[in-house]
Amino acid sequence: MASWRHPNAVVDAAINLEYYVNLTRKAESAKLDFVFFGDGLYISEKSHPNFLNRFEPLTLLAALAMETTHIGLAATLSTTYSEPFTVARQFSSIDHISNGRAGWNIVTSPLEGSALNFSKPEHPQHDLRYRMAQEYVEVTKGLWDSWEDDAFIRDKESGVFFDPEKLHRLNHQGEFFSVQGPLTISRSKQGQPVLIQAGSSEAGKEFASRVADAVFTGQGSLEDSATFYQDIKGRAAKHGRNPDEILILPGCNPIVGETAAEAERKYQEIAGLVSIDEALNYLGRYFNDLDFTQFELDEPFPDLGDFARNGWESATDRIKQVVKDENLTLRQMALRSTTPKSAFIGTPDQVADTMQAWFEAGAADGFMLNNSVLPDGFNDFIDHVLPILKQRGLFRTEYESDTLRGNLGLPIPVNRYAAPAAQATSKAKI
Ligand SMILES: Cc1cc2nc3c(=O)[nH]c(=O)nc-3n(C[C@H](O)[C@H](O)[C@H](O)COP(=O)(O)O)c2cc1C
Repeated sequence: MASWRHPNAVVDAAINLEYYVNLTRKAESAKLDFVFFGDGLYISEKSHPNFLNRFEPLTLLAALAMETTHIGLAATLSTTYSEPFTVARQFSSIDHISNGRAGWNIVTSPLEGSALNFSKPEHPQHDLRYRMAQEYVEVTKGLWDSWEDDAFIRDKESGVFFDPEKLHRLNHQGEFFSVQGPLTISRSKQGQPVLIQAGSSEAGKEFASRVADAVFTGQGSLEDSATFYQDIKGRAAKHGRNPDEILILPGCNPIVGETAAEAERKYQEIAGLVSIDEALNYLGRYFNDLDFTQFELDEPFPDLGDFARNGWESATDRIKQVVKDENLTLRQMALRSTTPKSAFIGTPDQVADTMQAWFEAGAADGFMLNNSVLPDGFNDFIDHVLPILKQRGLFRTEYESDTLRGNLGLPIPVNRYAAPAAQATSKAKI
């Protein structure tokens, strides 16, 4: 919330293309799998400063595709406030422009105010949003198969541009969407963009385990993350999927120091930038911009019942659970949620040990790095922790592939209309 005030923070970062290009190039030279840009569709005076003035993420991905060759490029797009035909085209275009490096973080949009920006009378209920998302993704995937891989003949001599047998209309008529197709763009080098999801509620986990190639999660401890990991992999198996083909990626905010004390000092420096009013605003975002200044700061956290649960169901449930378990005051909870103290604070060896422990305990297939202060925190990780992970054989020294699916070890989805031989090969692989 306040890390933009850190002496080394880039204050206009969220709207600074050069900054993003440099950071993405640095991530690519370190051989990271992908960069990811989150997004939301509603802001107010109380929003996180980084959200007030930022790029539309797909536009940013297109620009970054031109500046890079191997790193994956992923961004958030909401299924509640968009049309599958448009989004299938957009992500397919990014996937072509980047030669098979696109990833889509599918969100259902937690913020109730989003409805006010999209001519909608109200924000759809939480579980209804996930039902819409399920059909939405089915439509999108169907559209991505509009053209078989060898559909375009482009024979100047004969004048045959495409094979009509290899063009397929979806003709989808469902509960929420009615889409004929075909899509106006072919499949990419990786077949389809990588699908990412971050739901943590019951409906969210069910959706993620059905459709996602990768799942983001914000679990704070190894134990919670391992439980989440087992849960999602188990659900995926129940849906007939190979659990190895759905990757669990917990958030990891490493703060690295030469000594443990220096790392702690860096954390305190970041935490100390936040005023209590900013912390209350941050907390309020999870509760539909609730004005928390109306409550006593040093009294127990107020009983809010199910207020605003329709927005961030899992996040508000978690906050209520933590205050109950630990008997926290409003001040304590606001500060904790604004500047959480992650498990990944310490010397380079300590941070590497923690990451290794999570990985080996089955709590993570990989991590989403989200440093509070950029570029410093990121550079510290790349320059001091990553070499240790490489030395231990836990991280690559070269990209395995030039597609995102290739680097993540995910198969290329076979076109549903492809000849049975191709289908059989794909099944044998699974
Ligand atoms: C690492 C991570 C990144 C996320 N990125 C976004 C985002 O960019 N936009 C968004 O609206 N929600 C984002 N979310 C929130 C999720 O989409 C989801 O709303 C949230 O985890 C609550 O889950 P639930 O809807 O199942 O209750 C993110 C969550 C996590 C853990």
